[in-house]
This record gives sequence, structure tokens and C-alpha cells, in this order.
Amino acid sequence: MKLLQMIEKKQRNSRVVARSESLVQGLPVTILVQKAIFAKKALERPTMNPIQATHQRSIQQKDAFWREEAAGVHWETPFTEVLDYSNPPFARWFVGGRTNLCFNAVDRWLDTQADDPALVWVSTEVEQEVTYSRRDLYREVNAVAAMLQAQGVVRGDRVLIYMPMVPEAVFAMLACARLGAIHSVVFGGFASVNLAQRIDDASPKVIVCADAGSRGGKVTPYKPLLDKAIALAQRPPAKVLVVNRGLFAFEPVAGRDLDYASLRHQYEGAVVPVTWLESSEPSYVLYTSGTTGKPKGVQRDTGGYAVALASSMQRIFNGKPGDTYLCTSDIGWVVGHSYIVYGPLIGGQTTILYEGTPVRPDGGILWSLVERFKVNTMFSAPTAIRVLKKHDESLLKKYDLSTLRALYLAGEPLDEPTAQWISDGLGRPIIDNYWQTETGWPILAAQPGIANVPTKFGSPSFPVYGFDVRVLNEETGADLGPNQKGVVAIVPPLPPGAMTTIWGDDARFVETYFSSVPGRQVYSTFDWGSKDDDGYWFILGRTDDVINVAGHRLGTREIEESINCHAAVAESAVVGIADQLKGQVAVGFAVLKDAGLFSQSEQLLKLEGDIMRLVDEQLGPVARPARVRFVTALPKTRSGKVLRRAIVAVCEGRDPGDLTTIEDPSALEQIKDSL
Ligand code: PRX
Repeated sequence: MKLLQMIEKKQRNSRVVARSESLVQGLPVTILVQKAIFAKKALERPTMNPIQATHQRSIQQKDAFWREEAAGVHWETPFTEVLDYSNPPFARWFVGGRTNLCFNAVDRWLDTQADDPALVWVSTEVEQEVTYSRRDLYREVNAVAAMLQAQGVVRGDRVLIYMPMVPEAVFAMLACARLGAIHSVVFGGFASVNLAQRIDDASPKVIVCADAGSRGGKVTPYKPLLDKAIALAQRPPAKVLVVNRGLFAFEPVAGRDLDYASLRHQYEGAVVPVTWLESSEPSYVLYTSGTTGKPKGVQRDTGGYAVALASSMQRIFNGKPGDTYLCTSDIGWVVGHSYIVYGPLIGGQTTILYEGTPVRPDGGILWSLVERFKVNTMFSAPTAIRVLKKHDESLLKKYDLSTLRALYLAGEPLDEPTAQWISDGLGRPIIDNYWQTETGWPILAAQPGIANVPTKFGSPSFPVYGFDVRVLNEETGADLGPNQKGVVAIVPPLPPGAMTTIWGDDARFVETYFSSVPGRQVYSTFDWGSKDDDGYWFILGRTDDVINVAGHRLGTREIEESINCHAAVAESAVVGIADQLKGQVAVGFAVLKDAGLFSQSEQLLKLEGDIMRLVDEQLGPVARPARVRFVTALPKTRSGKVLRRAIVAVCEGRDPGDLTTIEDPSALEQIKDSL
């Protein structure tokens, strides 16, 4: 474009206050006016930092931006279109491209890293440690793929994985990906009723499980819980593949249960060709909690996920092939999917799979792993750090952490004192990052792979490229400015790697996530948030009834349904109450059918224990309320809605706020008294 045309175009886009062809200091006046306008604007608006500039480009030039990022993964067939958004809010990324997660995680690195460690399994529970090179990983994954194939598992079939933190769980996930089968990993802390619900929703052809896990030195059986779940399920699997660790004796079910070790022996050396999937074909379904009692199967695509993870390994985690990554999450949660299994492996890094707690044999175990394996990137949860705060602080200084570039923390709010403590202790950047099962990778984070911009404790920094994230007024849907609290929402399309739908229920996907902000079809995170004058974001808690216990996302509705199963209970309300260590704990309030029991304290104590055991049995220890208290009525509005926010406020010693709609004020008094 000629200079004059360029000037004219810019002028059309800005305010033209003068136009003359006369010259001042050899420059046309129009240029000088233009310069003055830009200088004034720069003064009014702080300049963007490189993270914000990258973000802006990713939103304004989606196609160009994501085409470049997509070069980070192997495409067997190139895509023909970066984004198909013809059916909002459903987005299809990298249309027509064919790829495979397992190929990108394993096969792709065989040429350059066949003998380098790909997966290191460390168990302080059973005192074992095994290193798998990329070649070993290839061998193991192919063997499991062959086992599954022999059971008739093909592209699009579901395989449910209910496993502790053992390498076979990773092999099974990658084997599914290799075959184009859809895995659904269920967290080991969930019990039979949860499991049965997920079995019925996913209707898996095969379930892969282990006899048992171990936590804090105590064996936690898996197989009997699975057997119970299968008995409850309407759509049981044809086969169950059992990894027998020799931790818990069990009777295999004839004709159904298969022994992993025997089959592995049989299929050792098998080579199973990769099934190339169209980019939008599902890779996995991961269930998560929401407002209703029915968990949602978050469905992820293949190509978009591979691209998002490959990109995040560089831009957010600032890593490179050959690095070592330690993530202390669990494969049953989204963080484990993205940053124990797929992210590091797709990024050509060594991933450490750790079975154990952060405090056994002592509070230095994680740092000793960093030293021994020369870990470059570590990812954990704020609760783990709060637990460590109670242990000998000198353990933070005992090990050589010179290889560690940064510690990433996510899953729950990272309080300032904890961030300060660990930052002082480690002398390393602490990177709070905010995201959800639904998004698959961070929405807000510092992004040192783009630029080193100072962080603020208490803030997960800036929007990550690809996420057009906003703070909106929950009643009007209007965008809010700095320092105003509102709902954190994402203007669709959601970026590559985010959920594509709810498994088997497109309508629920739209209804749940895109219909809560008035007048706008935007994705709601169901979190409150705000940003400050410098563009740093803050997350201020959930807008819905989801609670977060030690980084574990739980639906209060599911826990209530379980409590209500107790024969003595008429109804109940479960809320999340602030807790110094776990962030929140679940507290249940139950109304008994027999009001006569109400005055018998010994009976009530026994009932509390019974109810906790029931929840434990049905949903698993992770969902067990910290306390159950008994009341004769729940505080409700006149239309019958439980006033949860008021209950939480009272429990936390705060003002319950506006109570004009309460039916019976004494019900809230009872809540207070019951504590
Ligand atoms: O409420 C937010 C909280 O955890 C929720 C998502 O949990 P989940 O689906 O298990 O995914 C975790 C992925 C890291 C969010 O809606 N949350 C997550 N990270 C943060 C957070 N709250 C505050 N700060 C965070 N960094």
C-alpha cells in the first residue's frame, strides 16, 4: 500500500482533526496529527505486555494464529480449514486434518529419543521405581492396544479406566488413543454409585482396573468397588481387564475378568497400527460435577487437544523436548490427563508418575524427586503446599532444585500467604493458573514461554491466548471494567483443546454452559472474578453449588442425594465451608424423618457416623462430609429453594445478607446452633 493510502486508512479508523498537505519539519501535517493521536492514546491506555499482545492476536486473527500453533503436532493428513464455526457454539478445529494422540506422544519421538526416559514411575507406597524409555512405552502401549483389540475394541468404542497411579493406567490411556477408542478415566477416590453412573453413561465395552491402590501406606481396594458398581449398572461392560498388583486378594469373575499380566505376555511385541482420527473425533470423556446430581461427560476432540497441549508446553510451561516434568495430580482428574500424560509426552518430555503423598516418608519427598530426576517443571495443587507448610521448612532447602524453572499450581484458589511461603522457600517463580475440566488447559496464567511478566500473588495473571475471557454482569450480561466483580465467561468459539460437547447430550452442553448469561451466548465458567487496573485477573469463588475440597471438584447435589439415601433422613443440604488446609470442606445438614430423635445426642452421633460411611461407600472418601449436623428444618425461600449462601455465611461466621425471602428465620438460627 502506498504511504498516502496507509495514512488515509489509519485516519478513517481514528479521529482526523486536521487535513492539510502543507509541510511542518518536512512531514505532512496529517502525519504529525496522526502521531499526536497515537501518542495520546498510548498515554491513556497502558501499553500491552507481550502476553496480552499474543492474546489479542489469537482472538483477532484466529486462523493465522492457530495455523502456526498446529505446526507443533504431526498431521497424517493436513487440515483444510482451521476453524468451522458454522454451528455455534459448537466449534470444530483443524477440519479434515487426521492425527492421533498416541502417535504424537509416543511414535513421533522414537527417531530422536527412543532410549531416553519417557515415563518414570515412582511409588513411595509400594517402594518401586521403573523407568520406561520411549521405546519401552511404545512396546507396552502396543501390547495393551493389542489386548483391547482382541476384545473387539475399535474406533469410537468406550473403555473405562479405574486405576491407581500405576504405569498400566497410562499405557491403557495411550492404547485407547492409538485405537481411536474413547477412554473415560474415573478417579480412584470415587466409589460404586459414582462409578455405576459413569458406566451407564459411557457404556464401555471394556473396563481396565487394578486390584488395589495404596494411600499413605494403606491398601485401598479397587476391584470390589468395581464389582459392586458393575452389579448396580444397567449397561455393564463385556470384559474387565485387571492389573493384579498382589495388594488385594480377589476372585476373578469367570468369563468376564481378564488377567493383564497373562495377556501382556501373550501380546508382547505386537505392533498395532495407529488409527488416524479426523481432528474433531473424540479422544476422551472425563466426567465432572455440576449443579445437578448427574455428572457431565466432558468430551474432548483429538486434533485441537493435541495442538493446545503442544503449544501450552512451550508458551505456558516454557519447556522443550528432553525436559522433565513432574505433575502431582492424579490421572483421574483433568490435570493428570493434560499434564501427567498427554502434554509432557506430546512435548517430547519425560513425565514422572508419582504414586504417594507429599509427606511420606517425609515432607521433602517431592523436592527429593526434583533433585533426583532433575525436574524442570513442576505442577501441583495449593492444598499440597498447605500440607507441606505444616512440615519441617528446612526440607525445602535440603535438595538441589537448580533445574526447576517454576512451580505451577492450579485447581483451587492459591492464597497469598501460601504463595509467599513456597516462593520464599523455593526461590522459584510460583505460577498460579486457573482452568477447568471443561477447558482442558489453562484459561488464565502467567506465560513465561511468551514473556517474563511479573506475577502478583493471589492472581493467576492474564488470559491465555485463545480464550476470549470476560468479566460480565450476571444480570445484564454487560462487560465489566477493572475492579468490578462479575461472572467469568468466555466468548465462543472455545479454543482448541476445550470441551466440544457433553457426551451424548449436545442440548445439555448448550443449555448448561451457554444459556446462563442473559442476552449473550457465552460460555459460563460459573466462577466469579475480576481484573485489576493492570490487567491481572482474580478468581473469587463459584457462582453455583460446586465445591472444591483439596482441589477436588465436587457437586453438593450428588452428596445430598447420597445422604438422602439414609433411611432416617428426610432431606438434606450440603455446603462448602472455608477450611484452612483444604480450601473448603463439605458440611451436611440433615432433617430427620423422626423428629423425636432430634433430642437424643448419642443417637445423633451414631447417625452422623452412619451417614458418613454411607457417603463413603456410595461416592467414595473424597466426597465424605467433614461434619453432618441435624436440624428440624432447612432455611429455604418461600418458593422452597435452599438458601445455601446464607448457610455458608452463617457457618463461616459472616453476615448472611438479605433474608427477606426466607420462609422461617429460625431455621438459620438452628444451623448456627447445630455447629
Ligand atoms: O472454581 C475453579 C477452581 O476449580 C474449578 C475447576 O475445577 P476442575 O474442573 O477440577 O479443573 C481443575 C483444573 C485446574 C474452577 O471452576 N479453580 C481451578 N483453578 C483455580 C481455581 N480457583 C482459583 N484459582 C485457580 N488457579
